[in-house]
Amino acid sequence: MSERRPFIAGNWKMHKTLAEARALARAIRQGVAPDRRAEVGLAPPYTALAAVAAELAGSDIRLAAQNAFWEKQGAFTGAVSPAMLADVGCHYVIIGHSERRQHFGETNDTVNRRLKAVLENGLAVILCVGETLDEREAGQTFEVVRTQLREGLAGVAAGADRLVIAYEPVWAIGTGKTATPQQAQEVHAFIRSLLREFMGPAAEAIRIQYGGSVTPDNAATLLAQPDIDGALVGGASLKPEMFLPIINAAG
Ligand code: PGA
Repeated sequence: MSERRPFIAGNWKMHKTLAEARALARAIRQGVAPDRRAEVGLAPPYTALAAVAAELAGSDIRLAAQNAFWEKQGAFTGAVSPAMLADVGCHYVIIGHSERRQHFGETNDTVNRRLKAVLENGLAVILCVGETLDEREAGQTFEVVRTQLREGLAGVAAGADRLVIAYEPVWAIGTGKTATPQQAQEVHAFIRSLLREFMGPAAEAIRIQYGGSVTPDNAATLLAQPDIDGALVGGASLKPEMFLPIINAAG
């Protein structure tokens, strides 16, 4: 395992009422070991951010949002600005999740605009990249990931402490089909080489999470890979009995 502190984040997606969100946040807070190795983050839906912030107050668990718009304020119905997310207590914002790209027309350009706005507001970013099944089968994985990273990070000179990359092969998200540790490591090492190319030596400290059907059963072998520095967890983050063992798998 590298010296990078592993980062395990739960992406709750469009799940949890207020009462459910409070209960889940409380269970995670009570269940994590104080001396654990991993940094832990929770990304509830916007509606539950304030309630989860209150549950996490005084703990070292980080609050994360699932997206942000790039404008500061104004007539943008339905949008939420990075400043609002900072105000509610977020530390991280997930940007460019494949579900945003697939269902909401997110492009590398809009990903880049959101990402820069998040950084400008003093928040940290989890930038998601990853290929579809068709792209993998056509041998385009590296090319797709390279374009997503190059265009997503255009004009960005963030320090490693405020940038996390999540490699999430689209075919592994919510499907129960995890990338093998070797498949994931291969792309993670490629991502690190790209980060070196774009950012120089700072790349060594940037955490690269794996995402896609991470469970308590596969977390340890994935996290043992040299360039896998954590996990972005969807389905298994909705239940403490699944999420806590994944955090523990990071040491
Ligand atoms: P999953 O989702 O763990 O349910 O596959 C991961 C993600 O989309 O971040």
